[in-house]
Amino acid sequence: MKKLSARRRHPLAALVVLLLALAATGGLYAAFAPAEKAQADTSAQSLAIDEGKKLFAVGCSSCHGLNGQGTSDGPSLVGVGSAAVDFQVGTGRMPAQQPGAQVPRKKVIYSQSEIDQLAAFVASLGPGPVVPKPEQYNPSTDPAKNAADISKGGELFRTNCAQCHNFAGQGGALTNGKYAPSLEGVDPKHIYEAMQTGPQNMPSFPDTTMPEEQKRQIVAFVRHTENDEPNPGGLTLGSLGPVTEGLFGWIFGLGVLIVVAIWVAAHTTKAKKS
Ligand code: HEC
Ligand code: HEC
Repeated sequence: MKKLSARRRHPLAALVVLLLALAATGGLYAAFAPAEKAQADTSAQSLAIDEGKKLFAVGCSSCHGLNGQGTSDGPSLVGVGSAAVDFQVGTGRMPAQQPGAQVPRKKVIYSQSEIDQLAAFVASLGPGPVVPKPEQYNPSTDPAKNAADISKGGELFRTNCAQCHNFAGQGGALTNGKYAPSLEGVDPKHIYEAMQTGPQNMPSFPDTTMPEEQKRQIVAFVRHTENDEPNPGGLTLGSLGPVTEGLFGWIFGLGVLIVVAIWVAAHTTKAKKS
């Protein structure tokens, strides 16, 4: 006890107390401030879910049910994730209109913030693929890395996507009136989400089978074929490759040969008569 009171009178005692007090204040602040921010985040989140629920009740529940459980007119949305909503509503496919072989792209009727709210509501029904962040789908800012991504993406595209979307992403017909659409002008975010969620007849490519990095490379390739692919001129014939080129050869090439053959035949018979 004596020792302590002796120390209290030490000239540095006041300084030590001050430092301890400052450290305690700082520590308390650090302990409480992030908690407040996290609370603000969750309340913004639950607000978005509430707004999304209202929008959903008006625009989507007639087919998907009030709680997204699905009806005879639309599938359950439990566990499809925010990425599926961002894709389906962001490309105008949803809300669906006429029944048909496939729900087509249409004019988008919701604003991006409404789409985010709908997505937050559907994501709250069950865990699923999350809307990607720009750094996941935007091309690399380093030109050398981007060039490497494009060539790797081209390989991945030819093995995973070209059988339906064609080598240049121009799209093609599938069975029963379904089709793989052209990828021209599709937003990079929506290309990424299509791979995550596999809309309608398209298979999905989850991160377990196709890592994030590979999806980004495919997006880089698709954007590249559309914007910077050198075009040697002439008709592209839909960039369909040997099929249309061959068809062109058969119809025009053989057509010309037949005309020539008829012409030759007509001339030889005339020559005999005279
Ligand atoms: C007229 C009925 C109808 C309405 C209205 C409608 N949908 Fe759909 N929705 C469907 C059908 C049918 C499918 C399944 C399409 C398919 O896969 O062939 C579907 C599929 C979806 C999918 C994809 C599910 C998956 O497995 O990836 C999402 C997400 C979706 N709808 C969200 C919405 C949202 C959000 C709204 C409201 C803005 C909405 N839908 C309005 C009929 C509807
Ligand atoms: C089995 C055939 C098939 C394969 C393989 C396939 N897709 Fe698709 N894809 C489709 C169909 C069918 C649709 C239309 C779905 C719809 O309208 O909901 C589609 C739609 C898309 C869309 C949406 C386009 C738009 O207009 O909004 C994108 C982007 C896309 N696919 C990218 C890819 C990529 C990238 C790959 C390879 C990783 C791939 N697809 C592999 C059949 C396929």
